[in-house]
Amino acid sequence: MANIFFLQFLLLISASSLTHISGQSVPPPPPTAATTPLPRAAQEFLDAHNKARAEVGVGPLTWSPMLAKETSLLVRFQRDKQNCSFANLTSEKYGGNQLWASGMVVTPRMAVDSWVAEKKSYNYANNSCTGDDKCGVYTQVVWKKSMELGCAQATCSKGPATLTICFYNPPGNVIGEKPY
Ligand SMILES: *[C@@H]1O[C@H](CO)[C@@H](O)[C@H](O)[C@H]1NC(C)=O
Ligand SMILES: *[C@@H]1O[C@H](CO)[C@@H](O)[C@H](O)[C@H]1NC(C)=O
Ligand SMILES: *[C@@H]1O[C@H](CO)[C@@H](O)[C@H](O)[C@H]1NC(C)=O
Repeated sequence: MANIFFLQFLLLISASSLTHISGQSVPPPPPTAATTPLPRAAQEFLDAHNKARAEVGVGPLTWSPMLAKETSLLVRFQRDKQNCSFANLTSEKYGGNQLWASGMVVTPRMAVDSWVAEKKSYNYANNSCTGDDKCGVYTQVVWKKSMELGCAQATCSKGPATLTICFYNPPGNVIGEKPY
């Protein structure tokens, strides 16, 4: 029984991504013969994102092994050197979403669904959130100009807890633009 249940969402993304003046992008690596299937976790991260995007008529993200590697390095650094706290994404060149959770096992789908839960606070008409709610995490998920996704998770000893980080390229949440 998950009665010790604590779920905390990082809302830093809403603030940090506002520093992106424009959607600068890092060129993707040259295409490879991508015939091997993605690892299961990667496919689950991707599917959960693309479901939320399809619901609002936005095209799918593709999985980027380069972004996945960057998030993997970062999530392990946070686990090993930063007590598993949220990463400071302020100066990242990618968009980023994070989730820290303890008292439960967090699958990739659960992590993405927790971000997509912000959707209920988002008003597309005026591109703003209800009251004091935040929805920059959701708008990054469905940001149309973001094309590539890479994510990683680490299990931390305290809790046990899980830290999940996804990167998006080009970054979303560009000031003055709507997600789609
Ligand atoms: C690390 O985080 C845990 C909870 O996540 C907390 O109980 C502990 O005090 C933290 N340790 C340090 C050194 O900040
Ligand atoms: C995050 O990093 C930026 C610069 O890279 C710094 O200005 C800011 O204070 C940092 N934020 C936190 C919470 O450490
Ligand atoms: C945006 O529209 C919603 C729904 O009509 C409204 O509740 C909210 O106050 C509006 N927000 C802003 C900042 O205008």
